[in-house]
Amino acid sequence: MPLDPTTSDFRTLWDELAPVGRDRRTGGYARFAWTREDATLREWFVGAARARGLDVEVDRNGNLWAWWGAPGDDAVVTGSHLDSVPGGGAYDGPLGVVSALLAVDRLRAQGVVPERPFAVVAFADEEGARFGVACMGSRLLSGAIGRDRALALRDDAGVTLAEALSAAGVDPAHAGRDEEALRRIGVFVELHVEQGRGLVDLDAPVGVASSIWPHGRWHHRFEGEGNHAGTTLIADRHDPMLPFADLVLGGREAAAELGAVLTVGRVLVGPNGTNAIPVTVDAWIDARAPEEATVRALVERVERLSRDAAGRRGVSVEVSEESWSGLVSFDAALRDRLAGAVAGLAPIGAVPVLGTGAGHDAGVLAAYVPTAMVFVRNPTGVSHSPAEHAEEADCVTGVHALASALEDLLTGE
Ligand code: GLV
Ligand code: MN
Ligand code: MN
Repeated sequence: MPLDPTTSDFRTLWDELAPVGRDRRTGGYARFAWTREDATLREWFVGAARARGLDVEVDRNGNLWAWWGAPGDDAVVTGSHLDSVPGGGAYDGPLGVVSALLAVDRLRAQGVVPERPFAVVAFADEEGARFGVACMGSRLLSGAIGRDRALALRDDAGVTLAEALSAAGVDPAHAGRDEEALRRIGVFVELHVEQGRGLVDLDAPVGVASSIWPHGRWHHRFEGEGNHAGTTLIADRHDPMLPFADLVLGGREAAAELGAVLTVGRVLVGPNGTNAIPVTVDAWIDARAPEEATVRALVERVERLSRDAAGRRGVSVEVSEESWSGLVSFDAALRDRLAGAVAGLAPIGAVPVLGTGAGHDAGVLAAYVPTAMVFVRNPTGVSHSPAEHAEEADCVTGVHALASALEDLLTGE
């Protein structure tokens, strides 16, 4: 077990995770909630935590907690998630979990004795890649999503979240808002790889978060009429692919006009045959902007666009909101305290404060408890892609920064 983490200590722990769910051809990861890969990652977490003498608990929603000392209320909690988006990078999530474990090593090496309860957490199903709603572990725990709605969500194979939890040994009967788990979180600090170029441009290895853009996901389901690709005259077609295409192109234009971003990254075509006009096109819209009113205006415009296009093409459309996350402004006092604890640590110096368009468990929990985020520089600025990266030296700096912030919270007022 490493004492005061260095580059090679970071690498040792990091390399244990590297092969899990990795596509050898693309280098991208498929680590979806409650799958075999997820189980392997969860086992790894339990092993790494136990190797550090931490006691592991699974909460009612399947989140993993590793306690240094006795569990208790008002704890200092740090961690992130282990799951990925399809074709995701290695760092989004795991960097926060690995850094949290290495921060424990550093605190120990420095003789820090926590004066309040302390836990490392691995939140379940942060990306929502399988059941559609992101940050499911923290949303369920906090009650930000209703239990019944969550448990009924289905993956593309028709498996419900309730069934997936059961299969993974988490009893869905006990899922939902968890007062005890919530009471135990006194403060949550999530370290995360930066998902843009803010720190690169500022030439800084780490930063702290100010805010998260409001964002959400919407499902547009177009339904037309299946028919033969060669024998159906153009005039006779009810092709759901056409209003879908209008949605993609018009949505992008509308987003650009409004100063927002819109992504259609997931589409299911039924029955998906080259020589058959599709019956259905299911498309998922991800929309984000600095202000809630802008996202709402965009989403309304896009819905109108879908409805008009579907009407013109003789196709029906249903639109539903799958998730919504309002603007998050992180606790300014906590942020400044963290920045103060970290500043001056070589090679950090002053700590930049950055906003982000990416969602996080820290963002969900911010509505319930004080939360903060530490970002680690990503030289590519790319995320949700195999190109996502952080240099080992910056990762170690991140561990040192996190440990300093935690020490301040564990031993200060
Ligand atoms: C999660 O990373 C998200 O921003 O969707
Ligand atoms: Mn992510
Ligand atoms: Mn993440």
